[in-house]
Amino acid sequence: MKIMVVYDSNTGNTEKMAKAVAEGAASGGASVEVKKIGEPFPLSSLGDADGALFGSPCIYANVTPAMRDFLENLKGAVDAGKVKLKGKKAAVFGSYGWDGAWVMEQKFYGYVKALGYKVEQDACVEVGTDLQYHPDDHLAKCREWAKKFSESL
Ligand SMILES: Cc1cc2nc3c(=O)[nH]c(=O)nc-3n(C[C@H](O)[C@H](O)[C@H](O)COP(=O)(O)O)c2cc1C
Repeated sequence: MKIMVVYDSNTGNTEKMAKAVAEGAASGGASVEVKKIGEPFPLSSLGDADGALFGSPCIYANVTPAMRDFLENLKGAVDAGKVKLKGKKAAVFGSYGWDGAWVMEQKFYGYVKALGYKVEQDACVEVGTDLQYHPDDHLAKCREWAKKFSESL
């Protein structure tokens, strides 16, 4: 089983989550590849994986512009039949500052579902300051969440 973790992060909070998520997914038995938006990688990696975990901070009540661009580009490849994601599993995670959790649970879900993924697991969302001041508790939650995803594949 292979899981791709694809995330964006401006100030490091979601990046900490992505690392914990990758550890959790690996502890569930998957081989894991982690990519930050901006790092070049072939979209076929997502087609070759059994599942994907997408992560983003909430910026102005949405995912980051770079994550939006990435998902739009991926949608183009899916629509053109170049990458097949239909029926594969995905889930989303991310950090926010005040009221951004709903973005992860609604908008981010919507973008990922539109790619053909089955999104069955609730989002993993954390407040940025919790990750800064109480990392152990909150990153443990991220690890558990990703382990559950990995075991469900
Ligand atoms: C320009 C900007 C806009 C933001 N907009 C929101 C928002 O609409 N809702 C929210 O809950 N948090 C918002 N935040 C807070 C970030 O989501 C939060 O600090 C997050 O943990 C940053 O993640 P990162 O360290 O991975 O970049 C915003 C932060 C910035 C800098």
